[in-house]
Amino acid sequence: MWFVRFLTSSIGKKWLMAVSGLLLLLFLGSHIAGIATLYLGSAAFQGYAEQLHSHMLFISIFRIGLLLLFMIHICTGLFLFYQNRKARPIPYRISAKVANQAVRALPITSGRASLPFAAATMPYTGLLILIFIIIHLFGFSFGPQDVPIANTVVTLLGNPGYGLLYICSFTVVAIHLHHGIWSLLQTLGLSHPRYTLFIALMTTVLPLFFLMVAGGIPLLLICGVKF
Ligand code: HEM
Repeated sequence: MWFVRFLTSSIGKKWLMAVSGLLLLLFLGSHIAGIATLYLGSAAFQGYAEQLHSHMLFISIFRIGLLLLFMIHICTGLFLFYQNRKARPIPYRISAKVANQAVRALPITSGRASLPFAAATMPYTGLLILIFIIIHLFGFSFGPQDVPIANTVVTLLGNPGYGLLYICSFTVVAIHLHHGIWSLLQTLGLSHPRYTLFIALMTTVLPLFFLMVAGGIPLLLICGVKF
């Protein structure tokens, strides 16, 4: 079948990465919009969480979809990583400094590439995000069920060690998104110089915005702010 042939081709796998990445990005955007209700106070956040949990069938289907998306994204990413390594076992000898200079030399209108550091570390930042999500799920989704979720969030993220781990993890997420969004825009054909401003907004402003909104919660809690 043409569809299976497409998905097993190299370009098909790039599309799988791009589409699964885009859907995961939409999840992250909606998740961060939800947790931002904490800035309005614990009661607002608790109300949001209870509202969400009142649609259990929807949540269950959503979770299965999310798990599938993560699996597709991770497996395809690993496959492309090993395929590239097999095709070029000796990496290009180019220092980060030279690569950065080459990127800066590009005219602004050509739709600049993402930072080479973010591109080169994609498999590692991806792995760190996976570890973070496992820790995150054990803290919240599989955490104590007899305590309101708002209390669990405030107690865990107010712990300096745990809170700092979260801030570092969100920084890793922002670095991964910086190159990931750039790469998915390329794959989906949105790399024309006409879209330079849109590309800059998506690859730099959006990850930084996510980092500020999500990272602000543990930071304020550690500083003693009460939600
Ligand atoms: C301060 C920031 C964050 C807070 C307070 C937070 C809070 C939560 C809570 C309370 C849950 C449990 C939801 C439930 O059981 O219904 C959850 C689930 C989840 N979070 Fe976060 N989260 C944050 C950031 C993130 C980030 C950055 C990611 C991804 C990189 C993420 C990925 C997930 C995933 C995959 C789930 C499971 C989804 C589900 O159970 O439906 N979270 N989060």
